[in-house]
Amino acid sequence: MSELLRIENLSAGYGEAVVLHDVAFALGEGQTLALLGRNGTGKTTLINTLAGATRQHGGTIALGGQALHKLAPHQRAAAGIGWVPQERNIFKSLTVHENLTAVERPGKWNPQRVYEMFPRLAERKTNLGTQLSGGEQQMLAVGRALVLNPKLLLLDEPLEGLAPIIVEELLRAIRRITQDEGLAAIIVEQHPQAILAISDHAVVLDHGTIVHTDSAAALRSQPQALERLLGVAR
Ligand SMILES: Nc1ncnc2c1ncn2[C@@H]1O[C@H](COP(=O)(O)OP(=O)(O)OP(=O)(O)O)[C@@H](O)[C@H]1O
Ligand SMILES: [Mg+2]
Repeated sequence: MSELLRIENLSAGYGEAVVLHDVAFALGEGQTLALLGRNGTGKTTLINTLAGATRQHGGTIALGGQALHKLAPHQRAAAGIGWVPQERNIFKSLTVHENLTAVERPGKWNPQRVYEMFPRLAERKTNLGTQLSGGEQQMLAVGRALVLNPKLLLLDEPLEGLAPIIVEELLRAIRRITQDEGLAAIIVEQHPQAILAISDHAVVLDHGTIVHTDSAAALRSQPQALERLLGVAR
């Protein structure tokens, strides 16, 4: 398996404040990484640093051999970063369809395939972003990242605050995108069981550093480690 992403000696934060310290890991093509950690441990800061939305203080980020850390945020999208931020960045004044076509780039993911995956969005094609439920907004945010035809999908707490039935729909879609379609992804979650079940690898952050790295399956089967690292028993 060839390598897609390599992060080395990464430190980053906001202004002078350094939040991430000496973060390093690698991810292969088509692999899924669960990025875990309690509140405020730096998960979003790491995702945003990959997308170019923080101040990087040191280290390197390579995507498919390209030095991502030297690029501006819009160049990183063109280089293959599909970013779904924690706050779901859809254009609220545009329709569902316009949200997708505004950012679409050539490749196997197009609005039609997004609608096949999320039939709820197909029904809401002409609705404005403001008229969508939280779950529909999240589906649209994922769809917008997909139609960029990225090499790496970044999902920051995609299940947060959603009803159980929507969580199931999103999990099915994420499984299809990553496992069936083979798109590499980093998925942030605080409640790890569902995400560990569909991930290959797991990284746990605490105070902005990596405190645990393992296969997702191994971490999932260690309740004591989950309790110690995340404060959850299962
Ligand atoms: N815009 C910002 N400016 C300054 N400090 C920030 C900013 N955003 C986050 N921080 C700080 O960085 C640290 C890590 O925050 P971050 O949002 O990355 O954590 P997180 O693991 O994503 O948390 P959560 O689970 O609550 O989403 C925290 O101490 C937070 O206060
Ligand atoms: Mg966060």
